[in-house]
Parts: sequence; structure tokens; C-alpha cells
Amino acid sequence: MGKSTMAANLATTLALDPTLRVVAVDLDPQNMLRLHLGVPLHEGRGFAHMLDQPQLWHQVGQRTDDGMTVLPYGALDLSASVNMSARLEQAPALLAEPLRILASDPASMVVVDTEPGPSTALRAILPHVDVLLTVLAADAASAALFPDIESGRAYGHGLPAAQYFVINQFDPMTRLGPRIARSLAAQMGPRLLGVVHRDEYVSEALAAQKTVAAYAPRAQASHDIAGICRKLLTALGRY
Ligand SMILES: Nc1ncnc2c1ncn2[C@@H]1O[C@H](COP(=O)(O)OP(=O)(O)OP(=O)(O)O)[C@@H](O)[C@H]1O
Ligand SMILES: [Mg+2]
Repeated sequence: MGKSTMAANLATTLALDPTLRVVAVDLDPQNMLRLHLGVPLHEGRGFAHMLDQPQLWHQVGQRTDDGMTVLPYGALDLSASVNMSARLEQAPALLAEPLRILASDPASMVVVDTEPGPSTALRAILPHVDVLLTVLAADAASAALFPDIESGRAYGHGLPAAQYFVINQFDPMTRLGPRIARSLAAQMGPRLLGVVHRDEYVSEALAAQKTVAAYAPRAQASHDIAGICRKLLTALGRY
């Protein structure tokens, strides 16, 4: 849908501000966020290998060329990921507390990328989230999900103070896309930060392990994403 793409590009934009310490955290066992940010594929270390030792997480945080840090989930097999999820079910503070401490520094900005759908990790951190950005597509599935997302039902714990949306992979040439996008936009109002066009440069950027802005600065998607980042920064009170 574009969650990791948005998280990586947003974190990189935030990192342009030299007074900010930006940390992008990957809560998805697929461990893909690091690839959007230039961390090598063979680098499999991550915080999930040391959930009980948050004082050591800095050892697996990867500094990127953009001057930010990405904290990868880590390469875990199926059983290890399921065990991790079960541990967070029992003790959400194992994840929530270190991230809360990290974010409590006024100079810090923590951008969290999640796995699709409900997860124990998402539930653990939601109470501490200031701004929730949901990435949807202009398709029937997103239109059907929207009422539950908007009401907070899909997020269980209720919603953070600020909830925003992005419509991604928009293709104006399709029959359904523009109609669904218009309907979603009317429901979202000012909470819609923008629409990102479907653009091959986005997938190419991932293959090149770069953000879209770095890979293809003149691409339509780069333009779209930059506008969304500006609006989000305004919402965060940064501009
Ligand atoms: N606007 C776009 N145009 C074209 N391709 C896109 C666009 N947005 C995302 N993609 C591609 O779709 C794929 C999924 O994107 P991404 O990883 O950002 O989504 P995700 O929501 O994080 O996925 P997952 O649910 O698997 O974590 C990637 O290959 C990405 O390059
Ligand atoms: Mg993802």
C-alpha cells in the first residue's frame, strides 16, 4: 500500500532539519524499512533480537546517508516472530517504554512503520503515538475499511489526537480510482494530506535502495510525497 515508502520518505524529510534527531523504527517482521533507506540486504540485525535489552538497541541502529538512524526489526524466522508477538501481547511495555523514552527528548522525532493490519506491536505503541498516518489506496478494499479506520475500531485502543490519511498508488486513468478517491477525499476533508500517484519510480527507488526523492527528484511521486511531508511537518508544528 505504501506504508514503508511513506515512513522512509517522511523520516528523510524530517532529517533535513539538523536540529532534529530522527529515528525510523521498523515494527514489521518483514524487516523491509531498512531497504528503503540504503541499509544493505545482508544486514539482518535488529531490536527484536534483543527485546529485553533496550540499552543495546543503539548497537543495531543503522546511520543512513541522510543523517538519521533506522532501527530495523531484524531478520527473524517465523517462530521467532510469533514468539516476539506473543511476548508483546504479555508485556507491551518492552517495546512501548523504550520508544516512549526515545521520543520524549524534544529534539527527537520517532517515525514508526508497522506491519499491515492489527498486531501486538501496533497495540503496544498506539497509546504513545502523537500522530497517526494511515495510507490507503483508491480501491474498493480501502473504501470498505475506511469507516472502521476513521472511527478507531480498527485500532482498538481508540485514536491518537491527530489522525491523517494519504491515498497512494492513485491512477487517474482507471475507471474506479478517481471516483473512489473523490469519495474518500470528501470523507477525510482536511485530514487527507495528499494523494500519491502510481509511479514506477517508486518501485525503482526501492530496487535502488533509495528514497523516491533521492532516486527521482522530478518524478510525480516525489512531488506528491514532498507535498505530504510539508503538510505533515506543519501539522507537527515544525514549519
Ligand atoms: N505510488 C506508488 N507507485 C508505484 N509503486 C508503489 C507506490 N507506492 C508503493 N509502491 C510499491 O509498492 C510496494 C509496496 O510498497 P511499500 O513497501 O511502501 O508498502 P507497505 O504498505 O509498507 O507494504 P507492506 O504492507 O508489505 O509493509 C513497493 O514495491 C513499492 O515500491
Ligand atoms: Mg511495509
